[in-house]
Parts: sequence; structure tokens; C-alpha cells
Amino acid sequence: MLVNGKNHHTIWVHPDNNHIIQVIDQRKLPFGFEIIDLHTEADAFEAIKNMTVRGAPLIGVTGAYGIYLGLLNCKPENWRADLLKMADYLKSSRPTAVNLAILIDEMVRKLADYETKEIACNAALEEANRMKSREIAWSEAIGDFGCELIEAISKAKNGQPVNILTHCNAGWLACIDWGTATAPMYKAFQKQIPIHVWVDETRPRNQGARLTAWELSQEGVPHTVIPDNAGGHLMQHGMVDLCIVGSDRTTSTGDVANKIGTYLKALAASDNIIPFYVALPSSSIDFTMKDGIHEIPIEQRDAEEVSWMEGKLENGQIGKIRIVNEQSPVANFGFDVTPAKYVTALITERGICKANEEDILRLFPEK
Ligand code: MRU
Repeated sequence: MLVNGKNHHTIWVHPDNNHIIQVIDQRKLPFGFEIIDLHTEADAFEAIKNMTVRGAPLIGVTGAYGIYLGLLNCKPENWRADLLKMADYLKSSRPTAVNLAILIDEMVRKLADYETKEIACNAALEEANRMKSREIAWSEAIGDFGCELIEAISKAKNGQPVNILTHCNAGWLACIDWGTATAPMYKAFQKQIPIHVWVDETRPRNQGARLTAWELSQEGVPHTVIPDNAGGHLMQHGMVDLCIVGSDRTTSTGDVANKIGTYLKALAASDNIIPFYVALPSSSIDFTMKDGIHEIPIEQRDAEEVSWMEGKLENGQIGKIRIVNEQSPVANFGFDVTPAKYVTALITERGICKANEEDILRLFPEK
């Protein structure tokens, strides 16, 4: 999608040196646009952990490139054992988004039987590139399916703008291109269907205010940033036609883990009979889990993310201010689980299905 009028991805191979992977430093957005070079699997690990890259599909693809970088740097005689070690290491960088484990395990299965490290390295690069392209294609397909939902609402409203509420950043920055929750919005906008997006600020890291709002403004999509606790009020007053969010891990039964606060939006949507859609590629579905609340690991992050806020100061510098007194303890749960019963439907790359095991398996029978 567009950055200052030019098409961009979130991750790519350095154009002059294929031993370097480049990513957008998302910690700097929207106030600065900086690119970071990843040379080793440790660089990939750190980029995921410190949220230089974030969002479930992008974390997965960064993990895949991390395996490639690790193979480049390991000794030829140990490469098979090192592959397994680096897979575990990379998977431990963040716990909730299942895409990381799914893509890394896929890499390991593909590479384990190669004869030499050199052949495995070449295959690893090819495989990571293929996963990147696949994620883009999946996001675009999600966009096409989701756009049909928006178009139907637009017709029912006689072309009045369709108001869509989204939480966190499930945009192209969280993926490679298009996004998941945002893909239907971009598709609708490109088809000139009038839309307006309510963007939850998404405390504590403000991925909505900092990333989703920036993405939408780069594309020219009408939107408004709202405090996290405003959604219920807007829904009660007929100002939201549908919600679309992303997912970090969805169980085979349709329970959805996503950024903390998603569950409360789903409850408010249910109370106000507003459709609540989850847009996700199959790389975010954990077919080994059935009970989201009890099985999905929820990341707990540093208290500093809650007690301090970062932003642009009046003097134009980027700075941090403390917003909680120094004595009060702080908790920082990164994600919550929305039970399947509050999810109207899942929008996947293979189409739209109900959030239950039977319908998910109808779309993904090979699982
Ligand atoms: O902590 P983050 O910024 O990685 O969390 C991201 C989200 O919760 C997204 O909604 C999710 O990864 C879906 S991305 C298409």
C-alpha cells in the first residue's frame, strides 16, 4: 500500500544484498519512516520482540526470513541441529500470534531433508519469499470477500457512508500488504463505495492511533480516531454499521484472540445487534486448539507501556511522559479472547464462514 504515494511492503530482501532483510521500523511511525536491516536470526528475534515488526502475519513472515538468516550464519557441519535450535528460539520471541509457529514449523519441514547447508539456504530464501507472496495473496482475497459485505450494507443504506469500527492495527503494516481487517476497507474504497472507519486508539501501544490512522490517511480513506472506550456509545447511537478486526490466533472452534479490548467491542456489538467480523488468513488459525480462553497463551508485556506514553512533544521532538504515579502497580495483558458466539463470521482467504468448527473445516477440509 501507499507511503507518500509510493507502493510499499513491510518486509523485503535488500535489493543489492540478499543476505540482508529489510523492514519498516513500526516503532517510529507515524512520526518517522525508518528502515532497519536484519542480518542474523538474533536481529529477526529482536525485531519481533521489541515490535519493530508486529501483527500476526508479519511476525510469521519475519520468523521465516529469520530462519534463512540463521542458516546463512551457521556452520555447515551443524546446520541441521542449528535449524531446530533457531526455530525454537525464534518461536519464543512472542507467544500469542500462532502465525510465527506455523510458518517456522513449515520452514523446518521443508528444509530438514536437504543435503547441504548451501542448498538449504537457497531453499530457505525461496520458501520465505513464497510465504511472503502467499500472505499478500491471502490478504487480497480476504479484501475481496469482505468487500462484498461492505457493498451489501452500502446498498441497504442507499449509498450513505458505511461506518466500520476496527481495533488495533490489522492493516497492511501488520501483514505484508492490504492487511486483514483493512483489506475489505481498501477494496471498498477503491471501488468507490463510500466508507468511514472508526479507529480505536488501542491503548497501551496505540496501534490504532499511530498505525491504522496513518495507513488510512496515506490511502485517503475517511476515518476518525476514537478513544478505546467510545465504541459502545457509537454503537448505541447507530453510528457503527459493522466491526471488522484481525486475529492473532483463532481456534478450530472459532474463538478469537486479538489485541486487548477486542472482546469488549464484541460484547457491545452483540448488545446492539451489529455484525462483528474477524478477518484472518488460515496462517492465524490454530487447528490444535478448541478452547480459546483456556488454551491460548496471552502475552504480558512490560508495565512501562502502560505507565508511560510516547508521542510528539510540543517542541516537535519525540518524547515519553509518565502518566501513572510511581507507586501504583500496573498490569499489561497484550491480548484477549472473544468467544466464538460473539463473532458473526470469519472472513478468510477461502471465503466467509461461521465461527464454528464445522464451517471452518468446510473451508479448510485438509485440516
Ligand atoms: O501486539 P501487536 O501489535 O502485534 O498486535 C496486533 C494485533 O492484535 C492485530 O490485530 C493482529 O495481529 C491481527 S493482524 C492482521
